[in-house]
Amino acid sequence: MIETGIIYTESCLETFKRMPDDFVDMTITSPPYDDLRDYNGYHFPVEDISAGLFAKTKPGGVVIWVVGDRTVNGDETLSSFKHAFAFKAAGFRVHDTMIYAKNNPIPSDCGKRYRQCFEYMFCFSKGQPKTFSPLTQQIKQEKAFKSFRITKVGRNDLAHDHIAPKERKVNNIFFYNVGTSSSKDKIAFEHPAIFPEQLVEDQIKTWTNEGDLVYDCFMGSGTTAKVAELLGRKWIGSEISKEYVALANERLARYVEVHELTTAK
Ligand SMILES: C[S@@+](CC[C@H](N)C(=O)[O-])C[C@H]1O[C@@H](n2cnc3c(N)ncnc32)[C@H](O)[C@@H]1O
Repeated sequence: MIETGIIYTESCLETFKRMPDDFVDMTITSPPYDDLRDYNGYHFPVEDISAGLFAKTKPGGVVIWVVGDRTVNGDETLSSFKHAFAFKAAGFRVHDTMIYAKNNPIPSDCGKRYRQCFEYMFCFSKGQPKTFSPLTQQIKQEKAFKSFRITKVGRNDLAHDHIAPKERKVNNIFFYNVGTSSSKDKIAFEHPAIFPEQLVEDQIKTWTNEGDLVYDCFMGSGTTAKVAELLGRKWIGSEISKEYVALANERLARYVEVHELTTAK
């Protein structure tokens, strides 16, 4: 009914019909949201998409939904918020509202407001996430804390010193370069809105294990497919535009050749 390792050239709503329920471990995607005029004015059916993703996600699976808002006539669209409410209504938990901050946002005239430099990375989960392998960071200074108790007769040192852990989970604002340094695949930039590869890598590593199935319902230039393959995950994509599927397949073919050579050694 459905094969992995394929980008289906169709609306994700059609791909949902091919999938059994409780099938996907993780979806990571960036919807077309406020760019509808670039997609022939299609209505963006977020209620149907969120309901479909809920049915097809395994219990404990997650959807990473990367979305920003446009400012139209001085007024932010808040599409991101509308989407979050739609996912909640479909049955997902809003497990974490993370921020994708851009180190080098595209310069724009933003009038009487600060420069826009982030998008939301909502983590919607179907129940409690079954996998969580957080990114960690080194703590700069290892500190030893003496434990003590204040008693009536003064300070009473306890037997054990507590050594602070050397690393901790990172905060939920992730910073990435956008533009040419976000992928080495020049062809990918023929798509107008690609993910930084590192963003996809960080999220896939956090929420899945090797062999898990990763889905991107708006595959675009194939970033999710490439990164999932490199990380030893199975993957499936949907992309409505034939041109973008051709672009993504060309991008992936280069990578798959490299992969085959590597494994043949
Ligand atoms: C923001 S882009 C995704 C880019 C992708 N993250 C990447 O790294 O290249 C959104 C994509 O969704 C596709 N799209 C729009 N509506 C769709 C639908 N109903 N089903 C599948 N793909 C759709 C568009 O053609 C576009 O390529």
